Order: sequence, then structure tokens, then C-alpha cells
Amino acid sequence: MPKISVIYFLLINTTHLIMKQIAIFASGSGSNAQAIVEYFQNHNQIRVACILSNRPDAYVLERAKQLNVPAYTFTRQEYQEGATIRQILQNHQIDFIVLAGFLWLIPGYLLEAFPKAMINIHPALLPKFGGKGMFGMHVHNAVVAQGEKESGISIHYVNEHYDEGDIIYQATCPITVSDTPQHVAQKVHQLEYLHFPRIIEQVVLQLPERH
Ligand code: GAR
Repeated sequence: MPKISVIYFLLINTTHLIMKQIAIFASGSGSNAQAIVEYFQNHNQIRVACILSNRPDAYVLERAKQLNVPAYTFTRQEYQEGATIRQILQNHQIDFIVLAGFLWLIPGYLLEAFPKAMINIHPALLPKFGGKGMFGMHVHNAVVAQGEKESGISIHYVNEHYDEGDIIYQATCPITVSDTPQHVAQKVHQLEYLHFPRIIEQVVLQLPERH
């Protein structure tokens, strides 16, 4: 085989060993998923390999198509049984899972397969305004209703409870008296786009080598 072909062959067949592969789970619009995909588009160590959603009508699937990222949907039963999800993650040699607006509790088989390798973003300053049912606008409505002076984002490891894993990073934004929940949502989204991709990058680059 000529030298150049050997190099090409090696590059193609070892890419998954060099690059850390991320899977994003999302249930909704997917604006965070898009920001993450775009951040890693030309990265030489990390790539977003696929996007998974529990909702066949989620706009994140349209974004995935436009971004040329393979996307999959699954049913509640498939999620609970695990075989389908495991197969997808294995096919893409996934090292790390990012939850970006994903609303189902994470089952034991995923927690076991990705110890310290699965993180979530929550649109408030945990431990406040977290837990089951606290997602999206529900969070911002509650924050404004309680007269909070600030809100923000929490990026944390995932465990068997909603929003209770160890916190990795938080950023805050002020809330003024005239801010509506929609204003707060916008401010929080800006923080998410700014910080989530780079925190993912930091955490993924600290992962132990695959054996
Ligand atoms: C984001 O604000 C994320 O923090 C939140 O859902 C939104 C998804 O937006 N997640 C939660 O509330 C989890 N409890 P997106 O689909 O446009 O990325």
C-alpha cells in the first residue's frame, strides 16, 4: 500500500480513539444542542457524534438534520429496557453524555455506563428551583414569582435524582423588578450558550483514557 494510503487508513480507523465522542440527549427546541455542536465543529479532540431525543416532534431533530448530526428517537419502553439506547451509544463509541433540556430521569444502566461522564444543565441556581417538574419556563416563572434578585445556570454531574448531582459550574445574571419570566429565560439562555460548551470541553478533556 503506498505510504499516503497507509496514513489515510490509520487516520480513519483511529479517529474514535483520538477524538472523544459526545452524545447529546434533548427533549425540546435544542438551542443548546446546536450551540454545543457548533462549538465542537472544528475541534481536534472532541466531537458531537449523535443526538438522541425522546420526542419525535422535538425541534432539536430538525436542528440535527441541518447540522448534519445523526439523530435518533426512542420510546419510553426502549428507554427503560436500555438495549436500543446502549446499541446507539456503542455504535458511536460514545465517551460522554450531555443532557441539554432532556426531561426524563436517567436510568441506572446509563449511570453505571457513564460514571462521572454525564452532565446536565439546569436553568437556575441549584439547589434552588430544581427537582421534578422544574424545567424550562416553570423554573423562570417560579424564580420571578419568588422575587429573586438573581438567577443563572448550574452545570452538574447526573445522578439518580433530578438536579442533585455534584455541581461543576454556576454563573449568575441579575433580575430587575421589571423582568418577566421571558426576560429571565433570555438572560439564562445567553449564559447557557456562553458557558455550557466550554465547560463540557473542560470536563471531557479530563476524562481518563479509554482502555
Ligand atoms: C434550557 O434552558 C435548559 O437549561 C433547560 O431546558 C432548556 C432547553 O432549551 N433544562 C431544564 O430545565 C432541565 N431541568 P433548549 O432546548 O433550547 O436547549
